[in-house]
Amino acid sequence: MRTPLIAGNWKMNGSAALVEEFGHRFAEKSLPASLDVVILPPFPYLDAARRAFEGTPIRLGAQTLNPLHSGARTGEVSGRMLKEFGVEFALAGHSERRQLYREDDEAVLDRLLAALNVGITPILCVGETLEERDAGKTMEVVLRQVGYVMARLEPDQRERVVIAYEPVWAIGTGRTATPEQAQEVMAGIRDYQAGYDRALAAGLRLLYGGSMNADNAAELLAQPDIDGGLVGGASLKVDDFLAICQSAG
Ligand code: G3H
Repeated sequence: MRTPLIAGNWKMNGSAALVEEFGHRFAEKSLPASLDVVILPPFPYLDAARRAFEGTPIRLGAQTLNPLHSGARTGEVSGRMLKEFGVEFALAGHSERRQLYREDDEAVLDRLLAALNVGITPILCVGETLEERDAGKTMEVVLRQVGYVMARLEPDQRERVVIAYEPVWAIGTGRTATPEQAQEVMAGIRDYQAGYDRALAAGLRLLYGGSMNADNAAELLAQPDIDGGLVGGASLKVDDFLAICQSAG
């Protein structure tokens, strides 16, 4: 009943040529019928991506957005602008934004609300560091990040949120969480949501992120509470990303 979602976060990578390559390759491949595929390219490629992905199943996402519609915010991009380019999904709280740009839970909430307010589906990213895992604080950290945001949303807003669990120690390291480790945290998030509303929890889409690749995706996606993936490095190679999408069917 939950449609799988595979999202490719290109981060500050890719090129106009890669956008074209994805457009061509996805146009000629057939993917599982019930699957949402999203690519989140850097902002300068959004317009080209919208044209290149026309006629393919790929939908567009943004890696971040500013909470304001417009104003004196040099270097920033608003949700309203992203909507003009056909963006349907946006990340909020990716660990790189939390760590490198000091976005705390409040800043994450502001961005997530900005997405909701313009009709963009937010993907709330949460996850623990290695130190936190080693200290036995994984669930405490993850549920604090989830709870801070979810507790401040209206019920109809909660329904529109996708959550990506990305253990920070697994991002870009080649060290993937085991399917059991990922499933344990996902089940914890879903149980926590069930405290609000059981139907909402049952419909909540949970993605795993952190060194997901063509070889390990099927096993991760087979877990009962994992509904998709947020893929970084492997989303820059069209064959690998296609293989991950195929394994989500
Ligand atoms: O947004 C994607 C995640 O940070 C995962 O990145 O697949 O390169 O580990 P990765």
